[in-house]
Amino acid sequence: MKFAGCSLTASFTPIYSNILKNTSRLPSTISRRNLTKSKILSAYSQKDPLLADAVMVAGRYFPPLFSVAPMMDCTDNHYRTLARLITKHAWLYTEMLAAETIVYQKDNLDRFLSYSPDQHPIVLQIGGNNLENLAKATELANAYHYDEINFNCGCPSPKVAGHGCFGARLMLDSKFVGEAMSVIAANTDVPVTVKCRIGVDDHDSYNELCDFIYKVSSLSPTRHFIIHSRKALLNGISPAENRSIPPLKYEYFYGLLRDFPDLRFTINGGITCVDEVNAALTAGAHGVMIGRAAYNNPWPMLGHVDSAIYGAPRSGLTRRQILEKYQVYGDSVLRKYGEKPHVRDVVKPILHLFHAEPGNGVWKRKADAAFQHCTSIKSFFEETLVAIPDSVLDSPVAEPPAGRDHLFTDIPNLLPPPYEMGAEQELQYA
Ligand SMILES: Cc1cc2nc3c(=O)[nH]c(=O)nc-3n(C[C@H](O)[C@H](O)[C@H](O)COP(=O)(O)O)c2cc1C
Repeated sequence: MKFAGCSLTASFTPIYSNILKNTSRLPSTISRRNLTKSKILSAYSQKDPLLADAVMVAGRYFPPLFSVAPMMDCTDNHYRTLARLITKHAWLYTEMLAAETIVYQKDNLDRFLSYSPDQHPIVLQIGGNNLENLAKATELANAYHYDEINFNCGCPSPKVAGHGCFGARLMLDSKFVGEAMSVIAANTDVPVTVKCRIGVDDHDSYNELCDFIYKVSSLSPTRHFIIHSRKALLNGISPAENRSIPPLKYEYFYGLLRDFPDLRFTINGGITCVDEVNAALTAGAHGVMIGRAAYNNPWPMLGHVDSAIYGAPRSGLTRRQILEKYQVYGDSVLRKYGEKPHVRDVVKPILHLFHAEPGNGVWKRKADAAFQHCTSIKSFFEETLVAIPDSVLDSPVAEPPAGRDHLFTDIPNLLPPPYEMGAEQELQYA
């Protein structure tokens, strides 16, 4: 096992880069000398040496401006294929994969880790509480050339958090997270990042959040944190409730930007459209991650990412064209692993493509019937898409919906008092 050392490991956006777009937000304390050239080049050089060069010419690092969140049972290969047909530039996260799954399935890894090269830039999220398995899992994942490895410290699911220290519960053991991140970094050449909440149960003060960030970044090469800006409640409420009941505290997120100018932070939680993404970036966020809105309403949400966030041309594909391409993909993967995936698995992300459009209700009912007998994606589309008017199938993405422009305006007045590091910590982690 290699030793992690103290090099900067962080992700970067390759095209129409925020590196180039947002240099004014870059604190002078981050400089090129902090970048580990091999780590940065490794992710892209095989795919596109020009992109890698562009990153090095920029000489500065920023996390992706926009990413789609990891979501279990949602951001699988099928969803990511659809998302990539809509946006070229969004970074896509996998569902969380337990380190143990990777280790125990090492002879069957394609099923869990393979993806089409079109899906770059793509991040593998792993979860776990065993350093040896995290190390092995990271090493095994290297063969699949993910662009970043992210460690889950935010999942409140009892299935995860209840099994010892795993998911959001890990926020209570920052020393372990620091060790885990060192071990992960030591076994990969790509950037490593942490996704976490702003607190857990009663450990929800701003200072405790800062202690976590401080310790993890001091003990490991982690320089980029994705902050789901609400705390996790580990006892009693469901994972879904844990994504709505604890209030969002964006002021904690922006406090981190002020108190850790050498680190990079992506904001997550409750952001629903490109207007709000741009508002968060304007308020200083280094990156924005969206989960549910990108899954439940992918066309208007992702359809504007390339132009409104990256300043790049849109793909220009209509939904009919997207579905034609998706059908080719879908029929090529059906029953690849025994009975799986079924038509229903492959169609699942498509079911949200006509959200609130004319014909959507009828289409869903036709889909339910078609699932009973269709054995190919082609036949499924032939049978069901007649419910969607041509005007919907052939229209370009409409103007983006207006966002809640007040979302971040009050933040400067709400910021928590600056982080005060205890003397004990100062000594321990100096
Ligand atoms: C169905 C579902 C599954 C999720 N699975 C994961 C996961 O595997 N790993 C993770 O870090 N977060 C997971 N999350 C949380 C999201 O990544 C994100 O932090 C959360 O939904 C808040 O962002 P949003 O308000 O934009 O949806 C999941 C969320 C949903 C809705």
